[in-house]
Amino acid sequence: MKKNEIFLKDYKSPDFKFNSVHLVFDIEDESALVSSTIECVRLSDQETALVLHGKELELTKVLIDDVELSRDAYEVDPQKLIIKNTPESFKLEIVTNINPYKNLSGEGLYKSGKILCTQCEAEGFRRITYFLDRPDVLTKYSTKIIADKKEYPVLLSNGDLTEAGELDGGRHFATWNDPFNKPSYLFALVAGDLALVQDTYTTKSGKQVSLDFYVDPGNEDKCFHAIESLKNSMKWDEDTFGLEYDLNTYMVVAVDSFNMGAMENKGLNIFNSAYVLAKKETATDDDFMGIESVIGHEYFHNWTGNRVTCRDWFQLTLKEGLTVFRDQEFSADMLSRPVKRIEDVIALKAHQFVEDAGPLSHPIKPKSFVEINNFYTSTIYEKGAEVIRMIHTILGKDNFRKGMDLYFKRHDGHAVTTEDFIGAMADASGVDLKQFMAWYDQNGTPTIDIKYTYDEKLGKVVFSFHQKAKTNNEEFKSLHIPLKYTLYSKNGEIIGPEGNLFELKNEINTLEFEGLSELPMLSINEGFTAPVHIKFHGDLNNSLFMMKHCKDTFNKFNATQNVLESEILRISKIKKPKNSDVNLEVIEAYKNIYLDESLDLSFKVMALSIPGLKEINDRLEKFEFENLKSAVNVFKSAIGDALEDEALKVIQNFNLEKDYEYNAQLIGERSFALLSYRLLAYTKNNTYSEIMKKAYYGATNMTVEFGLLSMLLNYFPEETEKESKHFYNKWKHETLVIQKWLKLNAQLESTDTSKISELELLPVYDEKIPNLVRSLIGAFMRFNFWNFHAEDGSGYEFIKEQIIKIDNINPQIAAGITRGLNFKNKHTGNRKDKIIGVLKSLTQNDSLSSDVQEIAQINLK
Ligand code: BES
Ligand code: ZN
Repeated sequence: MKKNEIFLKDYKSPDFKFNSVHLVFDIEDESALVSSTIECVRLSDQETALVLHGKELELTKVLIDDVELSRDAYEVDPQKLIIKNTPESFKLEIVTNINPYKNLSGEGLYKSGKILCTQCEAEGFRRITYFLDRPDVLTKYSTKIIADKKEYPVLLSNGDLTEAGELDGGRHFATWNDPFNKPSYLFALVAGDLALVQDTYTTKSGKQVSLDFYVDPGNEDKCFHAIESLKNSMKWDEDTFGLEYDLNTYMVVAVDSFNMGAMENKGLNIFNSAYVLAKKETATDDDFMGIESVIGHEYFHNWTGNRVTCRDWFQLTLKEGLTVFRDQEFSADMLSRPVKRIEDVIALKAHQFVEDAGPLSHPIKPKSFVEINNFYTSTIYEKGAEVIRMIHTILGKDNFRKGMDLYFKRHDGHAVTTEDFIGAMADASGVDLKQFMAWYDQNGTPTIDIKYTYDEKLGKVVFSFHQKAKTNNEEFKSLHIPLKYTLYSKNGEIIGPEGNLFELKNEINTLEFEGLSELPMLSINEGFTAPVHIKFHGDLNNSLFMMKHCKDTFNKFNATQNVLESEILRISKIKKPKNSDVNLEVIEAYKNIYLDESLDLSFKVMALSIPGLKEINDRLEKFEFENLKSAVNVFKSAIGDALEDEALKVIQNFNLEKDYEYNAQLIGERSFALLSYRLLAYTKNNTYSEIMKKAYYGATNMTVEFGLLSMLLNYFPEETEKESKHFYNKWKHETLVIQKWLKLNAQLESTDTSKISELELLPVYDEKIPNLVRSLIGAFMRFNFWNFHAEDGSGYEFIKEQIIKIDNINPQIAAGITRGLNFKNKHTGNRKDKIIGVLKSLTQNDSLSSDVQEIAQINLK
């Protein structure tokens, strides 16, 4: 057991109920006075002491039923307040003094730029006032904010504005009232000089909702896409799940300093500005897509998270997994369903599969944690969403909808568990989901071994499926795994039904077919219906076949990627490989996809993207360096040479001046043109760098401008210093654009730790702003495989120093960086010793936060 470890099995319901809370924030120049008045009811006869959570708080006074308590009636320290003897029902008043100006943690009340804002999930409310800061304590909030009118003309909190007015001394106030019960983690407050961009939405039942977007003055012209995305989200949730918005106003505030992407506070979302602000000149297609999905995500939380919330933080996937599933489905309906599915699985494999294969592996419903902030993981989110998707696959769309309806009917206004969710799904559909629950409790990515026997005389094939996984549980419980499949003849025709569902439930199950004239090819886990590894045995290994013939978009993509990766791995075993070592059949199949006009352009770009050193290493048992790096380069060069003429044609027909629009067709055209430029860059031929430079200067949107800059810097580094400077000077006043430039520089092969230190000194960089730290330090770790893993360990040492420095400012961000040091077991030799040394010194450094220590400890496993 670790220090301060909290266990799910120890859950106890609260001893007190809060009927209402009224908050008053008196914001001064150097601090803020917070008074909280709570109507309390004691639920237990045995337990009469009320133990409230706090963090770094300074208590001014405490009153019960208007009488100030004497000093011996309570115990207090910065982390808790204990009221020793409470009556059955009473009014509790607590006054605390906090300093938002010195708070750099990104939790509680803090300053972002010139704006004061809050972040309360998961346990940030306790940095504002002493409270039962746990998600199963729901109550009604009213909030009065008092502040200087010039500095903070806009004062916002959850719900409806009920009163506002002037006060003496240039001050003013606003009072907000939220009619819905909510847990403290959904509380929000914003005060600042903000510009308002407004729109309206009329719900299905005819209610007018005001959509109020607050941004820094000057950014008003970058809100239209976020607003459009919000309207689309509202319509989508009505159409798909019958769910309407429930308040009169939906507010979104964009701030530059934010630990996460965005936060779903009731009626008052707070967003990292990167997920609100966009126009074609400053944001890429990927940025536009990110905004659509994050706006959708936070909006969808209003029902899955806010109206029905989590009983405790072990249930986090109840709201996050389900809401990620909902935002994925929403984005699929907005642009292209098959393309979105591929993107989501790419992300799942890059983050969650890697996490699940390393020391941080945990089930989507963890059994214990030390620091809850460390459990906002890819597993809770992305695997959590896959688990919901499997339920959707097993139940079917209509039964899934019935299950959601029942879930809201039973649990609206309550704090519930994942069992409650599964219970509603099972009861509404009549499908038994008992075995399915193991997905919640068991970590590890399952592998399914597929073998076959074929009887030529009878024309009978028997496929056998064997599931297993490395798990921390005492024994591996067989999972309920839905797999879609199709059979193909050797000449690529579908035989039998397409996309049938096979449900693997036992450790070993078989699937038989008779009356065949030849051994069929099996396309399994189509659409990636289950988050598993598939391992074919015998001559079932059919990637090249599926790359050419598969009709399921996902499996065609997956097969193509497998072919490219296996070919690169094969080349990596050759001493001094040359272009002519690359298998011509692979090149031919690659070219056929590139030229196939029946295929979606975005699909082609994803399928034909050549896996890099980092991606391949993520999947290997042990890291490989030099040989793998040259194999990737040889493969790229061979592909570039083979497709040169075709790629040149594509870019000659690409109209750089074409008006920017956000839709699947044009996004596809832009990314296919960029792929084509990239193929030319692989040839390393200087005539192409000249063409690319011309196109770069002529670009009229950020997608093309940044796409080309990125290729120039990656493939022609010696001759593109000028373009890099040009970009920097053009955009140095737009922090979101500079973040892209930093990220690009951080991953270049020429960028070692001393170059990163130089970049840190630029005036655009500020280690107090999480986005900038992620763009420089985070990107170096995640994308600069070569220099980060430098053999002398200098990359690890550098990151250690950064962690120590950033932990002093913001432990959550420092823990996020520490998370990337999770590869100890993938090394041998010197690098292994070095990374162990760094992790040990982090765990032994007592001045570091528990956030960092917990992760460093786990990474030492
Ligand atoms: N509730 C979270 C934000 C959050 C998590 C705040 C942890 C504080 C601590 C929010 O709904 C969320 O999940 N945001 C994601 C983006 C989303 C599209 C997956 C994020 O911020 O990364
Ligand atoms: Zn969320």
